[in-house]
Amino acid sequence: MKRLSYISRFARPLTKRDIDAIHLSATRYNREHGVTGILVCLGDMFFQELEGKGAVIDKLYNERILQDNRHQNVLCLNSVNGVGARMFPDWHMQIFNLNEETEVLPMAFRQALIALLESNHMISQYTQPSILRFLERGINPTLIKPRRLRATVLFSDIVGFSYFAERLKPVDLIDLVNSHIDACTQSVDRNGGQVNKLLGDGVLAYFPQRRADAAVAAATDLIEEMNRRRSRASGTSPHHLLYGGVGLANGMVYEGNIGSALKRDFTILGNTVNLASRLESLTRVLKVPVIATASVTDRARRSWGFQSLGAHTLKGQSEALEIFGLKLVQSLHVDKLYQQITGLRRSNERD
Ligand SMILES: Cc1cc2nc3c(=O)[nH]c(=O)nc-3n(C[C@H](O)[C@H](O)[C@H](O)COP(=O)(O)O)c2cc1C
Repeated sequence: MKRLSYISRFARPLTKRDIDAIHLSATRYNREHGVTGILVCLGDMFFQELEGKGAVIDKLYNERILQDNRHQNVLCLNSVNGVGARMFPDWHMQIFNLNEETEVLPMAFRQALIALLESNHMISQYTQPSILRFLERGINPTLIKPRRLRATVLFSDIVGFSYFAERLKPVDLIDLVNSHIDACTQSVDRNGGQVNKLLGDGVLAYFPQRRADAAVAAATDLIEEMNRRRSRASGTSPHHLLYGGVGLANGMVYEGNIGSALKRDFTILGNTVNLASRLESLTRVLKVPVIATASVTDRARRSWGFQSLGAHTLKGQSEALEIFGLKLVQSLHVDKLYQQITGLRRSNERD
């Protein structure tokens, strides 16, 4: 059996009639499907606990509760599988409308729920989107079993980052990194991929195996967006330095939870991930912004104009591999770029 609890906010002021309507429809459905639980109203917030068969709770939560436009900001607090005994065996849906109480307790309780929502919102900004999606659907991510899947892995990084890291002011360095991450996460998201993690200035993302075109589209969108950001950059902005390289590889990856009780990560591992990272490093050696393996270009349906860059033996790979590049650009001299913006800064300081 599963027990799930969540909090949410009213989407608009709800009257007693609205609450009664939820109660009526919920009780009817829950009785028919063997669900028990409670619903607490506090100011403009709900707190609900539901218990029943796992599949029934998942369906109820995803198809009825999350779809209900009378509430919003639904945050799943907990979902536990394998619960032995029901906590509320006698109630299919008991409502406690604490707004009808005059005590100070409801106010304090409401404050606690608001604090929970706000702290969750803050923490969620540091959490990878795939984990958030599990949590939103009431799935406990720590219980997800590892699996092997085919994916197209995208690895993106800023050209010359180590050089700039030693020379830029911290505020400019972080601005540069954030601009790359922002452009990259948006391109990946728009094309249906998942950003798996941020690795310093780099981004690791992946796309379902059949969506090789989407991965290439994300890579080209990203390079174009960086071009736009550079051309929009004003005088001393570090965005003048925003050049990136993207490696794309397709193959088997392991997806699952790794880590310890202190630090956990839901991630992908395997040779395909290493390969994407090695290809990304090659982008600056070969002066090509996007480099992919044949396993990506063969699967892509659109003709993207990839050109063979010959066979290369990459670190950690036993055999030489033919690789393909997209859109050759002028060679980049990071030191010249840096001098260009520091020169600009000095002349601005003199003005
Ligand atoms: C805060 C809140 C709690 C809800 N709890 C339940 C519930 O326990 N069981 C249920 O079936 N639907 C629940 N719902 C969903 C709606 O009651 C239901 O989907 C909607 O009224 C449609 O009902 P109908 O099928 O009678 O048209 C809840 C909705 C809200 C906003």
